[in-house]
Amino acid sequence: MGRHLPFFVTLGDKETPVEQRLTTERLALRPFTLDDAPRVRALVGNWKVASMLARVTYPYGQELAEQWIAGHEHRRQTDADHPYAIEKDGELVGCIGLHRVDEGKAYDVGYWIGEPHWNKGIATEAGRALVNHAFEASPVSHLTAGHMAENHASGQVLGKLGFRYTGTEQIWNEARRAKVLGLRMVLKRRNG
Ligand SMILES: CC(C)(COP(=O)(O)OP(=O)(O)OC[C@H]1O[C@@H](n2cnc3c(N)ncnc32)[C@H](O)[C@@H]1OP(=O)(O)O)[C@@H](O)C(=O)NCCC(=O)NCCS
Repeated sequence: MGRHLPFFVTLGDKETPVEQRLTTERLALRPFTLDDAPRVRALVGNWKVASMLARVTYPYGQELAEQWIAGHEHRRQTDADHPYAIEKDGELVGCIGLHRVDEGKAYDVGYWIGEPHWNKGIATEAGRALVNHAFEASPVSHLTAGHMAENHASGQVLGKLGFRYTGTEQIWNEARRAKVLGLRMVLKRRNG
């Protein structure tokens, strides 16, 4: 299958195509810029966030945040990843993105929200917008997602988005430098 979200990268103003910006009632989803690095470091450098993400090094320094953001454009252009900064009231509060998986048949949804902003429905609201956009903008048959077994809040978010459990896996957690039990989930395209 070819590139799924070509209009993320080819339509509109080249630097900020319209589809790189999604809006919801309270949120703006937009590309990260290097100016976001200090805030990303502060939010992801929190153990409660880093330890729930598979591939985040801990401690998490600003250089890592800058490298991560600097890689976004290439990963978007190659349809490997579509990362969005989540902004609320003009402030960066989290991240949500799509990662191409299953040999291009699906995207995996991942996200984090800064601890001061938890339990305000932000992950759910951003997730709804991104899931809808992924199905509208690409031909994928399903989306996947996963969370660590202990991460009940994330399971709750994915359940509200319509994801259902499919199985378990042992996943490497970079912050903890250990394997942990993960739960896998899927959301199939409706009427498709
Ligand atoms: C998981 C995370 C993204 C949730 O973000 P959020 O914006 O707080 O999520 P929402 O407010 O939309 O929804 C959270 C839901 O979890 C529930 N919840 C929160 N803590 C919970 C817990 N310990 N046990 C069970 N449910 C919990 C909330 O009640 C809410 O459900 P409800 O709306 O049905 O009441 C956020 O906590 C986070 O970023 N954690 C660290 C990184 C992470 O886990 N990323 C996801 C990796 S898979």
